[in-house]
Amino acid sequence: MSKRLVYLDNAATTPVRPEVLEAMLPYLGKEAFGNPSSGHRFGRAARAGIEEAKRTIAETLGAEPNQVIFTSGGTEADNLAIIGAALASRDRGGPFRVAVSAIEHKAVLAAAHAVGHLGGEELILPVNASGVVDERALEQALAGGVAVVSVMWVNNEVGVIQPVARIADRCRAAEVSFHTDAVQAFGKVPVSLQDVRCTLLTISGHKIGAPKGIGALIVRDRAAVEAIIHGGGQQFGIRPGTENVPGIVALGKAVELAAAERAEAERRLRALRDDLELRVLQAVPDAVINAWQAERAPHVSNVSIPGRLAGRAGAACVERVDPGDGQRGVADAFRPGGRRLLVGLGVQHRLDRALPRAHGDERAAGARDRRAALLVREGQYCGGRGRRDRRASQDRRKGSFPGGGVAPVTQVNCGLRIANCGLMAASSNPQSEIHDPQLGGAL
Ligand SMILES: Cc1ncc(COP(=O)(O)O)c(C=O)c1O
Repeated sequence: MSKRLVYLDNAATTPVRPEVLEAMLPYLGKEAFGNPSSGHRFGRAARAGIEEAKRTIAETLGAEPNQVIFTSGGTEADNLAIIGAALASRDRGGPFRVAVSAIEHKAVLAAAHAVGHLGGEELILPVNASGVVDERALEQALAGGVAVVSVMWVNNEVGVIQPVARIADRCRAAEVSFHTDAVQAFGKVPVSLQDVRCTLLTISGHKIGAPKGIGALIVRDRAAVEAIIHGGGQQFGIRPGTENVPGIVALGKAVELAAAERAEAERRLRALRDDLELRVLQAVPDAVINAWQAERAPHVSNVSIPGRLAGRAGAACVERVDPGDGQRGVADAFRPGGRRLLVGLGVQHRLDRALPRAHGDERAAGARDRRAALLVREGQYCGGRGRRDRRASQDRRKGSFPGGGVAPVTQVNCGLRIANCGLMAASSNPQSEIHDPQLGGAL
């Protein structure tokens, strides 16, 4: 029986790439297992792996090797950036206040909140109807005095690209540190610190084919952050602790591959996404492609389909599809992030579920058709059972993003985030096949 599973969750995580696994394996073995702070050959071998990864990452991002600070992932890097910058500013007698956009990942929002708990202050910068940060609010925050501004490069829910170059320049002119979370941007859009003059930048390994638990904060100005964990003096004391050498080597390799393949990936993902969105709109006239008019990264699509039974529709985006016998098995849990984001964007109708993302490395046209068919089927189901508000749905079409002055609608709306718009179909792309023992087949 051929089993195929639609994996639309690659913006949440990706499988480890074989090349990355190969690169990291020696650092788990007997030759290079040493503590990188040790002077003997095993330690030196481990240190050499770290240094090479630093060089690769720095070169790719347009930074210096000693500006690469490894962390346990994007969440820690974001926390180090926000809390670390607030503490550094307070210690200098500067403002103990941070400004973050309303649509940041929880890692940034919660870190800003933690600054409040430490006695500081958090400012939330609103976004406009297209999901782009309100630059007037930014100006006000800068005028009031802040330690750091944080605006993500690409949003993980709807894929909107923020004007980070302009924001970085504004912050620099105001002598305020600027942090950008580039976790969803790197590998999907050009990311260079030569173009964006930020002080701090976050990347995460598991979004680009490295294992979970490794990331980095690029720190262009060491005085801009203070450590938030304390220990030995590793990594200039900014992030002490014995380095995760295999993870670091893996991140270096994944960064190298993602950078080399980015242009082609961008083109392919954009075509897949546009095609999928077109098919969804053709089949479900009420569907709304959220933020479609904004500049978006190619790997994220966020679709709202008016109707009830949103949970069913959301679940459908990550399920087993077996064209042979039609069996399906739901394989993913929902995350609340989509709802938070769309509320942040000003969407007034209720969102029952926001589907975690998607995406893979699928190139087959057949897979694209199955993916669209899947959404279409669920969309019709939703629409058929839900109460509709024609006027509101017409308004949504006219008003581009639904936050743009649309009257509240009565129906439950389901936000389907199908980021990365890809499939993994065992037959056409064996390299990206994942085996899930619980499902007993290719994931
Ligand atoms: C935009 C963004 N920032 C930060 C993170 C957190 O990264 P990590 O899972 O490596 O902690 C994620 C993960 O979903 C993300 O999408």
